[in-house]
This record gives sequence, structure tokens and C-alpha cells, in this order.
Amino acid sequence: MTGIATARLGTNGPEVSVQGLGCMGMSWAYGPTDADEARATLERALELGITFYDTADAYAAGENEKFLAPFLRKHRDDVVLATKFALGADPKDPFKRTINNDPDHIRASVDASLRRLELDVIDVYYMHRRDVAVPIEQTVGVMAELVRAGKVRHLGLSEVTGAELRAAHAVHPIAAGQSVVPVAAELGIALVPYSPLGRGFLTGSFTSADKELGSDDFRRRQPRFTGDNAAANAALLEPVRAVAAAHGASLGQIALAWVQQQAQVHGLTVVPIPGTRRRTRVEENAAATELTLSAEELALLEPIASKVAGDRYADMAFTSAGRE
Ligand SMILES: NC(=O)c1ccc[n+]([C@@H]2O[C@H](COP(=O)([O-])OP(=O)(O)OC[C@H]3O[C@@H](n4cnc5c(N)ncnc54)[C@H](OP(=O)(O)O)[C@@H]3O)[C@@H](O)[C@H]2O)c1
Repeated sequence: MTGIATARLGTNGPEVSVQGLGCMGMSWAYGPTDADEARATLERALELGITFYDTADAYAAGENEKFLAPFLRKHRDDVVLATKFALGADPKDPFKRTINNDPDHIRASVDASLRRLELDVIDVYYMHRRDVAVPIEQTVGVMAELVRAGKVRHLGLSEVTGAELRAAHAVHPIAAGQSVVPVAAELGIALVPYSPLGRGFLTGSFTSADKELGSDDFRRRQPRFTGDNAAANAALLEPVRAVAAAHGASLGQIALAWVQQQAQVHGLTVVPIPGTRRRTRVEENAAATELTLSAEELALLEPIASKVAGDRYADMAFTSAGRE
């Protein structure tokens, strides 16, 4: 491979590889991790030309940010680091989430993230989730203060509605959104789709979280991966298999190529951030940036999303759904 193409996040944001690396699974959510292999995966990703790394203060209660610190120290000028604030965990149950958009919490969160990451400045700082009791203008106002203070370079939002994205962008330019397509396209905001491999489901590596994954795996809590929903959703992968066979590619590569090509379909920058802890998989995923699906193949895959059975989260109040 000859390196990965780059794209700008937002109108004034950083230039990043068109595929980033999700780092959450290196510390949390998907079962036991081999830390040495995860570290080697970070290095391999950078060698392949991946320059955009995604974490959050909520991933293993800050441990994921700490895990990234040595890598960032070594390669500071070559990587764009994104982290997030607002999500906390119930001390009795790490998978039970809390949301906090209080201004003082945001100010404390950025300082804590900078300390754990051992950085002077965060390249992209996202609001991870919105507390609907706090006006989005107020939250983005506090985030803009952090830009002025030199603690953060660019802003992003995750799980917001189109109207919220528009209101936020009027307060301060937003470089990236981890959801929301039409308004992002209109405002020149990049889409950074999270979990672009459907948390592994789209690769075919598991078909039923409750039967195949460990008791501490977050996916057992997600309705679309369990019980009858999982069986129904596994059947939806048939067209993905057909397209993969035609390209001599893996299912995951087709999923990544599909989401990447939504850039042309919707007229916006798209930078998926697949997560992996393994070198061979980061190589496989990065190679998907060179796959092009035909119009017929895109049309074959298009109906799948609308047929998915079951919610993304057990508690959809933690997403933008229902506020649209
Ligand atoms: N904004 C938000 O609310 C939000 C929510 C969730 C995630 N995120 C971000 O998005 C990133 C990516 O999402 P994600 O990790 O949840 O899900 P994902 O990227 O859709 O899938 C990750 C899962 O797929 C497996 N996998 C990766 N490459 C594979 C391959 N080529 N073949 C087979 N299996 C493969 C990984 O296992 P291995 O690690 O063992 O390879 C892992 O279990 C996260 O790391 C995080 O930074 C953001």
C-alpha cells in the first residue's frame, strides 16, 4: 500500500488520514486485551499512514488515555488526537453511564484528560453525549473557552441532532461530528462514524453476543447483538458476503468501503475510525481505503441499515435518537 489519502476535518480543522483508529477496545468494552499487541497496533497504524486516533475520558475511566500517552509522546507531531468529555460511569457498574455537561465539569475534564494524555493541547475535543437539560450553546461556549485558552484546538460533537449541530456551529466552528449527516454536509463538518464495523458484527466474527462473547463484553448489553435480533441481523450480512466475494475482500473491508463512500453519496468528508487491537486487522482495515464499490454494489448494500433489528443501546436516551 502506498499510504492513505487525507482529508480536512471541517473547514479549518486538521488534515487527517481518511481512516482513523478507534482506541477504546485497547482498554475497555470488548474483553481482555494484550497490551503489547495493542501498542504494536498503534505503531503499525502510523506506519500505514493512519494519523487520527480516537479515545475518550470515559474509556476505562481514563485508562485508555493513559495507555496512549507513551505513543503520543513519541509521535506527537505526526498524530491528531481526539478525546471526549461528558460520559461517566456508575462506580458499581462500569457499563451504566452518566452524562455531565456542567461547565465546571467540562473545565475539570479537559485538564484531567491533558494530564492523562501528557499533552499540552488536545487536537479535537468532543462532547461525547448531550445532557438535554443544558443548552447546547452553553456547552459549546465553554468548549470555545478551552480553544481560546489553548487547551484544545478543534471541537467535535457526538450523538447530537441536526438542529443541535446547527446551533453549536453558530457559537463556534465544529470540525467533526460522530453522527448527523445532512446538516454536517450543509455546514462543511466532517462525519467521523464511530463503530464502523458494527462493533465487530459486520466482520462476521460473532453472530450472537449472548452466546459467543464473555460476560464482561459490552456488546452483550446492546439489543441488536442478542437473542432474535442477532439472528435476524446476521441474515442481513448476505449481500455484504456477496460483495466481499466479488472483490476478494473481507466483510469488514466492504463495511468500511461502504461507509467511506458515503462521502460521495452525501457530499461530505467521512473519516471512519474502526477500532482494533491487532496489527493484522489494522492492516486489513487500512487496505479498505483503496476499495471502490460500484453504484450497483452500493445500491445492494443500502437497504441493510433500515432493516436492522434492535436498538444500538439498551438505553437510547443516551443517544440523539428521539430528539430529532
Ligand atoms: N462517540 C461515541 O459515542 C463512540 C461510541 C463507541 C465507539 N467510539 C469510538 O469508535 C471507535 C471504533 O468503534 P468500536 O471499537 O466500538 O467498533 P468497531 O470499530 O465497529 O469494531 C471494533 C470491533 O471489531 C473488531 N475488529 C476490528 N477490525 C476487525 C477485522 N478486520 N476483522 C474482524 N474483527 C475486527 C475489534 O476486535 P479487535 O480489537 O480484537 O480487533 C472490535 O471487537 C472506538 O474505538 C471509539 O474510539 C465512539
